[in-house]
Amino acid sequence: MEAETIENEDELETFRVEYLGRKRGKVGALFDRIPELDPEERPAFGKAVNALKEDAQAKLDAARERLQQEKRAAGPDLDLTLPGRPPMPAGSLHPLRETLGEVSGIFERFGFSVAEGPEIEDDWHNFGALNFPPDHPARDMQDTFFLKKHGYKKHEDAPTGDDSPQQRSSENQDVVLRTHTSPMQIRVMETDEPPFRVVVPGRVYRNEALSYKSYCLFYQVEGLYVDEGVSMGHLKQTLSLFARSFFGEAVETRFRPSYFPFTEPSAEMDIWWDAGAGMGGQWMEILGCGMVHPHVLESADVDPERYTGYAFGMGIDRVTMLRHDVTDIRTLYENDVRFLRQF
Ligand code: PHE
Repeated sequence: MEAETIENEDELETFRVEYLGRKRGKVGALFDRIPELDPEERPAFGKAVNALKEDAQAKLDAARERLQQEKRAAGPDLDLTLPGRPPMPAGSLHPLRETLGEVSGIFERFGFSVAEGPEIEDDWHNFGALNFPPDHPARDMQDTFFLKKHGYKKHEDAPTGDDSPQQRSSENQDVVLRTHTSPMQIRVMETDEPPFRVVVPGRVYRNEALSYKSYCLFYQVEGLYVDEGVSMGHLKQTLSLFARSFFGEAVETRFRPSYFPFTEPSAEMDIWWDAGAGMGGQWMEILGCGMVHPHVLESADVDPERYTGYAFGMGIDRVTMLRHDVTDIRTLYENDVRFLRQF
């Protein structure tokens, strides 16, 4: 048998047994004949048989190596062009992503465009331009994740209530994880000319105690509509129509007066959530809103004498929890597949 023509593992083994096998191997048989020889012939004979043995071993190793290379070159033992076997596991949208998409989609049908903005913000866009006074409690360490902190001294030094270049420059500013999507009101107005009609879905961060109803990050959809002659009536009409589109024609809404530094007047919209099957119901706050404060328009170089507008900010997590009967907000962020598979 020739080592060079070995084609598989079986032939490899046959070769090994034929020449190097312990009992019936041909090389071993030659060694066995040493005692039959004349003593002076034995060393030369032994040497020759040893060389034969090494040669056979080298040929065996080479053949084994060649077989392994051929196997590697042939690739994995499966046909990658075959279609998969059904049922294929199909993923699905995360419930938060689904709600965000639905809310944005409704406003798109109303004629709004969709924009997204940075989650890392400077103090000016997250607070200053939105008419937060320098000592407003929302700026406190309690609520805001600061990435870079320059202390309060700068705010005291800075002239308040105007848009001095000092406040606008990004140097020497606190850098924060945005606490709401409202900074995008400023970014949208800064980069374009009125009218503005835009919604902004996105993630926001607050340094809050974690519990079943609050988490350190959550989702909002911001809305902004600025044009000549925009009124509180437009705001109520649009948001009521949104509620009916999202929750169904029968939904009840109400507006309560509220306060935000960046809107005046400000309100919150509640919907009546019926728990069903005689379980009763309750008013649930779903968004904050109001007429864009003239200081905010000025911060973004929009003329408040000519333009008015409304803005709103909607919490996405709570409505998602209501629709899917989720009782602990944290499960929306843990990405446990046993939870996610239910959607
Ligand atoms: N940014 C506010 C919040 O996070 C919501 C809001 C947005 C209120 C726009 C009024 C106008 O609670």
